[in-house]
Amino acid sequence: MFSRRTEWEASANELTEILNSVRASGRRVIDLTVSNPTVCGFPYPQDRILRALSSPESLDYSPDPRGLLSAREAVSGYYRDRGEEIPASDIFLTASTSESYSLLFRLLCDQEDAVLVPRPSYPLFDYLAALNDVRTVPYRLACDGGWEIDIDSVRNGTVESPRAIIVVDPHNPTGSFVPGPAWKVLRDAAAGCGAALIVDEVFRDYAFGGPPGRSAELSVSHGPAGRGPLTFLLNGLSKTAALPQMKIGWIAVTGGGADADGAKSRLEILNDTYLSANTPAQAALPELLAAGDSLRPAILERVRENLAFLGETLGAVPGCTLLRAEGGWNAVVRLPAGIPDGECVKSLLREEGVYCYPGFFFDFEEDGMIIISLIVPGGEFTDGVKAFVRWIGGRRGMAQR
Ligand SMILES: Cc1ncc(COP(=O)(O)O)c(C=O)c1O
Repeated sequence: MFSRRTEWEASANELTEILNSVRASGRRVIDLTVSNPTVCGFPYPQDRILRALSSPESLDYSPDPRGLLSAREAVSGYYRDRGEEIPASDIFLTASTSESYSLLFRLLCDQEDAVLVPRPSYPLFDYLAALNDVRTVPYRLACDGGWEIDIDSVRNGTVESPRAIIVVDPHNPTGSFVPGPAWKVLRDAAAGCGAALIVDEVFRDYAFGGPPGRSAELSVSHGPAGRGPLTFLLNGLSKTAALPQMKIGWIAVTGGGADADGAKSRLEILNDTYLSANTPAQAALPELLAAGDSLRPAILERVRENLAFLGETLGAVPGCTLLRAEGGWNAVVRLPAGIPDGECVKSLLREEGVYCYPGFFFDFEEDGMIIISLIVPGGEFTDGVKAFVRWIGGRRGMAQR
């Protein structure tokens, strides 16, 4: 009866079963996987957000296939504040970054076409690609204390004639930014095989060391000259303003020379087919972006404090390493040799009630990595990390017996 693309594994995985049973037992669970900022106790400017949502514009329906002009101008202003000129006419509003990916797969790919995706990577790609009948071909992020793109694996991937190269900058969950020289390789690789670049920047405003600034190698695609390969910049309210429930994402079209016009006119029809971006959130967008500006420092402060605590605490745990990261909401921890990540997260949850994601959820090639969310409220975070260290100590004791 159903399509092959929806033949998903319906049963709960073992980790979820353990989580359910720990919760059912009434024990406290410390959730170090949380990615929903609205449940993390951040000081949202609530009145400002609610006032913005009650504008009379919300009562009108005057659909525009690119999104309300006032909202697109606010997004254009977002880029201007970061030193980049992207006109409102080159911006398309969607319901989320996930929807932006789907529209772009529809724009660029026919059935079974390939897109290059980073590995490891956040797991939604595989679903989004499968739902759009697109194949993902991985390129590697190599780990040497920190992470960098394995350029040879990108070049090897271009043999598959990909329709797009997806770059996540900074990358989730490793937190690595793409350095300038790598952008040149990515741009050349895309231009060489006629692929577009899709640049997911949802965490760009969460650089640990202050704003990283756009690499000149990527910026060169911008502006009317559009010299670089066709490039789609993805972002949205979900991370930038920590408001995922508003369901607003956007695609900014840059580069591409003559292809840019074709991309925009086709995207207009694709977006017009669904018109998913809701009017109240679009009308409120200028204020919601500004609310995000006032909230982000609190989020960044928590992320930095949690990261510092994690680094200090793990520094005293032999064999355990906090991998170097530059931005985002997650940290990657390498476990002492011989502890598989799948075993760790299950046992940690059963014994200590601490819930973390194993690296294999994100397709890490190396076993023994776990992912820890950095937006968890401070007290809970420190309790969770201390429990993790206790658990590691117990494992070591067992290994010595
Ligand atoms: C790298 C990355 N891109 C996109 C998304 C999805 O964003 P949205 O909520 O706008 O669909 C996520 C969600 O965590 C993400 O980690």
